[in-house]
Amino acid sequence: MARPLVKLALGLPLVVPVAAAPWLLGCGWRQGGACHAMPRETSVVEVATTTGVQLDCAALCGEDSCSALDETHVRCYRIETQCQAVGRPKMGATIAHLRADAPPNVAWALEAAVGEASSVVAFDELRRALLHHGAPPALCAAAHRARLDEVNHARAMTALAATWSGHSERVFVEVERAVLPTLEELAWRNVVEGCVVETFAAKEAALQAKRAPDRTLRAVMAPLAAEEADHAALAADIDAWLEPRLSHAARREKDARRAQAIATLRTELAAREVPPDLGLLLSDEADAALRAWGFGPDDAPTAG
Ligand SMILES: [Fe+2]
Ligand SMILES: [Fe+2]
Repeated sequence: MARPLVKLALGLPLVVPVAAAPWLLGCGWRQGGACHAMPRETSVVEVATTTGVQLDCAALCGEDSCSALDETHVRCYRIETQCQAVGRPKMGATIAHLRADAPPNVAWALEAAVGEASSVVAFDELRRALLHHGAPPALCAAAHRARLDEVNHARAMTALAATWSGHSERVFVEVERAVLPTLEELAWRNVVEGCVVETFAAKEAALQAKRAPDRTLRAVMAPLAAEEADHAALAADIDAWLEPRLSHAARREKDARRAQAIATLRTELAAREVPPDLGLLLSDEADAALRAWGFGPDDAPTAG
């Protein structure tokens, strides 16, 4: 798919359309008009271990997203990312990745890479929303740092997949750009995406860094888990900043959404089947782990 390229000096290429180039600007960038003017603008993030020939996915897959795996293979794909990402999920993302014949560990790493690439967009939008609502500069700066972390996470997980598969891998993420949220919407999304989903992901990443049998995986997950913990802390800080700015009804709605997100997480974990050798939380461990990690029924609703 032909598109203008913008490359970051980060080793592996991060490819985005020029329309999304404002992502690359610093925290001081304040702009909401483009988002309002094109609320359904599509942005594309691609992370690859190598550059190479790319087939015309759109022509082959129609409205479905797709990934050009090499000169002769394309995979059309559409999934939702919630609870699949290692980083903050981009709700409602449309995603393309994976190949049908990937072994389970490679498929997991590619799926994680997709989640991480999606998180790049999520933090870009979070920073924009924080700026729009006049958040303290420290929160905005932290969101910008988190966005850069997620670029590295996407690269690391893609590289891990390539190490395991023995050849180059790539992931392809396509998301719809969101309109700026209201203050209430920002609080509700932050509590679900940050205080629940990403906080859980940080805990599970730390678990993998500790107990995964594969030394390479442990080495990848250790710094990633530490940075995800920073992102979880950012979510808690944002929640604390927003809390006194919400109406009583909005606070109650936030607490309800947090409870629902935890219930959804618990249900998904109970049914989840994961490769046994990745150090991930197993379904029969999930309930105890959720309680230990602050997601029990008796935990304070805004604990983050
Ligand atoms: Fe991440
Ligand atoms: Fe993250």
